[in-house]
Amino acid sequence: MATVVVTGGAGFIGSNLADALVAEGHTVHVVDNLSHGTRDKVPPAATLHEIDVRDRDALMQLAERERPRHIFHLAAQADVRKALEDPGYDADVNVIGTVNVLEAARAAGARVVFASTGGAGYGEYDGLPVPSPETSETRPMSHYGMSKMAGEGYCRLYTRLYDVPTVVLRLGNVYGPRQDPHGEAGVVAIFAGRMLDGVAPTVFGDGLQTRDYVYVGDVVAAFLAARDATAGETFNIGAGREVSVLDLIEGLGAGEPQFAPARLGELGRSALDPAKAGRELGWSVRMPLPEGLEATRRSVEMRRAAPDERPAGYLDV
Ligand SMILES: NC(=O)c1ccc[n+]([C@@H]2O[C@H](COP(=O)([O-])OP(=O)(O)OC[C@H]3O[C@@H](n4cnc5c(N)ncnc54)[C@H](O)[C@@H]3O)[C@@H](O)[C@H]2O)c1
Repeated sequence: MATVVVTGGAGFIGSNLADALVAEGHTVHVVDNLSHGTRDKVPPAATLHEIDVRDRDALMQLAERERPRHIFHLAAQADVRKALEDPGYDADVNVIGTVNVLEAARAAGARVVFASTGGAGYGEYDGLPVPSPETSETRPMSHYGMSKMAGEGYCRLYTRLYDVPTVVLRLGNVYGPRQDPHGEAGVVAIFAGRMLDGVAPTVFGDGLQTRDYVYVGDVVAAFLAARDATAGETFNIGAGREVSVLDLIEGLGAGEPQFAPARLGELGRSALDPAKAGRELGWSVRMPLPEGLEATRRSVEMRRAAPDERPAGYLDV
């Protein structure tokens, strides 16, 4: 059993990952400044350190004291719209924060697995192949996508320069229990909530825009599979399949949508080719979309019925 750190472990994906690490028997330290995450998502068996990843000294102290084997780096400013409003803050958290995490890993001799983004990284397709392989050019269309690509670059730099083992996971649009409506796949949680309220879903644009939806339990499995993978490698973590917003509404049984004008800067198409993760990590999507949507809907329902309880994660539904 090992000591591990999960940054962003009070958030959607990080708390689900922390649960799985606790279940494996590891000593889990969560680093989160609770700017977006919440204390109730952190597993009771983990230790929460209210540290901002922009605070290099606090991270170094923690890493030198606990000497984790792995640092799973998921803490981020993960809101595309917020990044547009305050690009400096986005870069501070996602770029400087990542450099600080890498410095801490270097000091502690830890391996790093970095949560990056597929869709926001590759950007608009403009004739590029869909689903995109890792070798596709990255052309972010948002500050968030740009800061994540910079974080990736620093990971690879630390591997080249200092032999710090780093692995980058480019995630698709992650959905599932504990998802909040503001993330990259927030639309699933929004539609599920509106369904329970008996309100029609609102679609921005024609609803034909596609995304690669990947269940949080599968994403957790990818982090676990990648933790000892070859240093310096980058993997797409997605289903490799385009799903439109209208498909999603149908899958959820969310009713007849209402249409609103398209939002600026939204990508038309997005899907990630997961072949490399299949070959080198033995990873693939296990959760069929209809069942994953049903689990998400159930988790929203459970949350409403018992708002004071620890929100159900993918291991609980
Ligand atoms: N959800 C998705 O669809 C998706 C897709 C691609 C990549 N990602 C990446 O996966 C990671 C986790 O995303 P999520 O959806 O769970 O988001 P989330 O917002 O639920 O989790 C991020 C966590 O980071 C914490 N955090 C933010 N700024 C911090 C700071 N300065 N110091 C310490 N902690 C800080 C927040 O409080 C939050 O708990 C992020 O790095 C995100 O960019 C998510």
